[in-house]
Amino acid sequence: MWSLIRFKIVQKILVAELNTCCRLQAMTTAGKNLPKVYITRRIPLDGLKVLQQSGSCEIEQWDSDDPVPRSELLKKVSGIHGLYCLLTEKIDKDVLNAAGPNLKVVSTMSVGYDHLSLEDLKNRGIKVGFTPDVLTEAVAELTIALLLATSRRLIEAVDEAKNGGWGTWKPLWMCGSGLRGSTIGILGLGRIGEAIAGRLKPFEVEKFIYNDITPREELAAKISAEFVPLEELARQSDFLIVCCALTPETQGICNKQLFSKMKSNAVFINTSRGAVVNQEDLYYALANHQIAAAGLDVTVPEPLPTNHPLFKLKNCVILPHIASATVETRNAMAALAAHNLLAGLKGEAMPKELKL
Ligand SMILES: NC(=O)c1ccc[n+]([C@@H]2O[C@H](COP(=O)([O-])OP(=O)(O)OC[C@H]3O[C@@H](n4cnc5c(N)ncnc54)[C@H](O)[C@@H]3O)[C@@H](O)[C@H]2O)c1
Repeated sequence: MWSLIRFKIVQKILVAELNTCCRLQAMTTAGKNLPKVYITRRIPLDGLKVLQQSGSCEIEQWDSDDPVPRSELLKKVSGIHGLYCLLTEKIDKDVLNAAGPNLKVVSTMSVGYDHLSLEDLKNRGIKVGFTPDVLTEAVAELTIALLLATSRRLIEAVDEAKNGGWGTWKPLWMCGSGLRGSTIGILGLGRIGEAIAGRLKPFEVEKFIYNDITPREELAAKISAEFVPLEELARQSDFLIVCCALTPETQGICNKQLFSKMKSNAVFINTSRGAVVNQEDLYYALANHQIAAAGLDVTVPEPLPTNHPLFKLKNCVILPHIASATVETRNAMAALAAHNLLAGLKGEAMPKELKL
C-alpha cells in the first residue's frame, strides 16, 4: 500500500517535472531558429534533461506513457530535424515522407532496430542512433531470472502455495531441472548473449555452445563457447537461450523444425524479439511436451492478448517485455538516445551510431 502511494507520488513529481521541462524548453527557444525535435513518448527524465539543457533544439513531445497514435505521429513529424522514438514506432517510408527533407537523424531508445526501415533511412542519408551496451547487464540479469523462474517452475509453485495446492512435502512434486552440469545453447552470441553466459558460469554449467551468422571467436573465447550449427544447438542444449537480433533471416527461426530436435527436458528462453519464434509451433511443442518449458519476455503481438493459448500453459512463463526495466538502465538509455540525437543534429559523430 505504502509503496503504491510512494510510486504515485514519485510518478506525479516526475510528470510535473517533465511538463515543466517542456514548457521551459518552449520558452527558452521562443523566437530562435532551432532544429525541431519530436519525441514520441514520455521518456525518463535523464533523457529529457540532456535535450532540454542543451538549449539547442525545439522540443515537442507526445506526453503520455502510451504510444503516439500513428495519425498523430504522421502529423507531428512534418518538418522536424530530429526524431526521438521507441521500439513501438514503425519508422518507415510513410513517416519519412511525412517528415520531409529536413530530417537528419532518427534516434531510437532501444538496441533493437527492427522497427526502422534501414534501407529508406540510408537512401535519404538520415543518421540513426541506438542504445547498445547500457542495457546489456539489465537484460542479462532478467534473462537469468526468467530462466530460473521457468526451469524451477517458480510461478506455478507460487500459485500452488497461494491457491491450496500445497499439500504435504512430496519427493516428486514441482521438480524442475538444474543448471549444474548442463549444456547451455545461445542463439546469437552478441553483447547480451555473452553477458548471459558470463552470469551463468558460476552455476557450474558443463558446456556453452552457440550459433550465430559466423563464429564469433573473440567473444566465444571469453566464455569457452563452441560454435555449432543451428540443428546441433537444438539437439545438445538443455537450456536454449535466444539473444539474436530480429532480421529477415531470424524471423520465425525458432519453429517446429527447431523444437522437434530439442530434448524433451529442454527449457527454451527468449528475451530478444517475439517474431524470432513461431508461436503456434512453440505452443504445440509445449502442449505436447516435446520440450519441458519456455520463458518469454517478448511476444507477437505485444501485449499478448490475455486469452492467448500460451497463457493457458503451466509450462510457459510470459513477462511483459521488461528485460531492460531497471530505473538506472532506462535513464541511461534515455540519456544515450538524447546524446545521439544532439550529435546527429550537429552533424557530429554520435556516441552510438548504427552503421547503415
Ligand atoms: N527483451 C528486451 O527488453 C530486450 C532488450 C534489449 C535487447 N533486446 C534484443 O536483444 C537483441 C540482441 O542485443 P545485443 O545488444 O546483444 O545485440 P548484438 O548485435 O550484440 O547481438 C545480436 C547477435 O545476433 C546475431 N545474429 C544476427 N542474425 C543472426 C542469425 N541469422 N543467426 C544467428 N545469430 C544472428 C548477431 O550476429 C549478433 O551476434 C537486440 O537485437 C534486441 O532485439 C531485447
